[in-house]
Amino acid sequence: MCGIVGYVGPRQASDVLIGGLARLEYRGYDSAGVAIIGENGLDIVRRVGKLVNLTGAVAETPVPGTIGIGHTRWATHGRPSEENAHPHADCTGRVAVVHNGIIENYVELREELAATGHMLRSETDTETIAHLIESYYDGDLVAAVSSAIKRLDGSYALAVMHLDHPGMMVAARKDSPLIIGIGEGENVVASDIPAVLEYTREVLILNDDQIATVSGDAVRVTTLDGHEVGAPEMLHVEWDLEAAEKGGFEDFMLKEIFEQPKAIRETLRGRMCEGEIQLSELDMAPEQVARIGRVYIIACGTSFHAGMISKTIIEQWARVPVEVEVSSEFRYSDPIIDDDTLVVAITQSGETADTLAGVREARDRGAKVIAITNVVGSRVTRESDGVIYTHAGPEIGVAATKTFTAQIAALYVLALKLAQAKGALPQERIEHLWSELSRMPEIVETILEDIDGLKECGARYVGASSSLFLGRGIGVPVAMEGALKLKEISYIHAEAYPAGEMKHGPIALITEGMPIVVVATQGHTYEKVVSNIQEVRARGAQVIAVATHGDDEIHRHAEHILYVPATAESLSAIPATIPLQLLSYYIAKARGCNVDQPRNLAKSVTVE
Ligand code: M6R
Repeated sequence: MCGIVGYVGPRQASDVLIGGLARLEYRGYDSAGVAIIGENGLDIVRRVGKLVNLTGAVAETPVPGTIGIGHTRWATHGRPSEENAHPHADCTGRVAVVHNGIIENYVELREELAATGHMLRSETDTETIAHLIESYYDGDLVAAVSSAIKRLDGSYALAVMHLDHPGMMVAARKDSPLIIGIGEGENVVASDIPAVLEYTREVLILNDDQIATVSGDAVRVTTLDGHEVGAPEMLHVEWDLEAAEKGGFEDFMLKEIFEQPKAIRETLRGRMCEGEIQLSELDMAPEQVARIGRVYIIACGTSFHAGMISKTIIEQWARVPVEVEVSSEFRYSDPIIDDDTLVVAITQSGETADTLAGVREARDRGAKVIAITNVVGSRVTRESDGVIYTHAGPEIGVAATKTFTAQIAALYVLALKLAQAKGALPQERIEHLWSELSRMPEIVETILEDIDGLKECGARYVGASSSLFLGRGIGVPVAMEGALKLKEISYIHAEAYPAGEMKHGPIALITEGMPIVVVATQGHTYEKVVSNIQEVRARGAQVIAVATHGDDEIHRHAEHILYVPATAESLSAIPATIPLQLLSYYIAKARGCNVDQPRNLAKSVTVE
């Protein structure tokens, strides 16, 4: 959560900082600020609300200077306000700090600092860091930052400047992401790669408990005890800035919905060779894979729904029991893990704190952990035993879309691999399922070619205040994902239920005209789903059904039909998801919502 940018070099820092923050705004947008060292000293400008407010303030009163730090905030400690916005300064106004993460012992530190005469002006945990640095500073900024962070419990990515050192900044991290773009005569510190791509593709990945001293022409990385890190980890970034921009679409979310055929195709590429499912990332001998006796899946939000879909698939195809747990619960649930347990951590960003904590818990208990993530070099990739990448490209819209269907594609591959290793499915069936799976990009393309009906349907429900999403079997997590999309971006209350469970309570919610979205694609429970539709229609609901092309019968049961091409029932999760993403999108747009940056949310949730 929160985005950090720091710049040192020949350019006007305010331009680089504001440009970088715009690319990181998906990480939080409650307030934003910059601190710049110029001829007149250290200037700090902060504004509540989106970055545009800060941009306006800086345009009105320019802040000249070629070194600076900036921040876009997702509030944790202290409400969104100007006092709580970053950067934070010490008592003297000579130290400025931006921070992403949570300092867990900040109350204790505040009391200690206040008792020694420090004047704290905000409600944040971050401000304590500026004052700690002040108290340890004796002319050596790196030593002061190092002493200060040794006092911190919790997570942090930091960029720090001091007026005494107008040509350098200090960056450090623990459990929150921080990278440094290495340019020619300039360097850019940032929470994520898109913020540095305009200047360089060479990226230094700062690791936990490392401190970087950054000037225009050098970056020196040391440990907290001052030992030089000989070969800091470097990454050459292949994708360019354009890939992270809208490419002619109105919003990132719509662009990303349309990128799904490519994301799925890339994720499946090279996964079948001469009848064998290829998944070397598991780094396990075939006998070890065959011995896997239980799979635990941990994930949050949309990634959790991908996990739920794969539970059905892995159990059906590989006959291995699968537990799916929300990461924040897994960690405290005393999970039953033995040598034959495989833990799969699904996280688009690779930085979700709850999932990372779950990964650590699982490994402490001796499990082998495989991560499924979209971000190369992200935290989860360093903490897991193996990584399966989804190749969806950067996802900027806060609502996950293309990374969700790419995750499902990767999980189908994992399920086939387990089924093959265990001999749970005949080879012909594996090859048939693979060839059906390979058709998925075209199936999604077909759905995306004809979206006019979805637009109309979306416009009709613009005034809804509450809705239900129903499904059976694999349709349940699809319904859950549909409901999550709708509430996230349109702020309409949406609940998802197994369709058969509705009569045990939620049916009481139904009022005349209430929209109920039903996943009613062809499958072994189709008739039951139709009965459930009748139950809700008898109570006045308006039914929007996701159905299979060729199902003419469904017209008798639903007000709106969103057709998807036929596929094997077990593979229907991807096609059934696409109309639900678009339905939420069009409803949200008709309501005038900002679909890329919904209120209160952040793209990567790096706090527990
Ligand atoms: O990066 P992750 O996949 O770990 O993120 C998990 C959730 O925070 C994320 O899926 C969230 O629910 C999205 N806003 C969904 O659109």
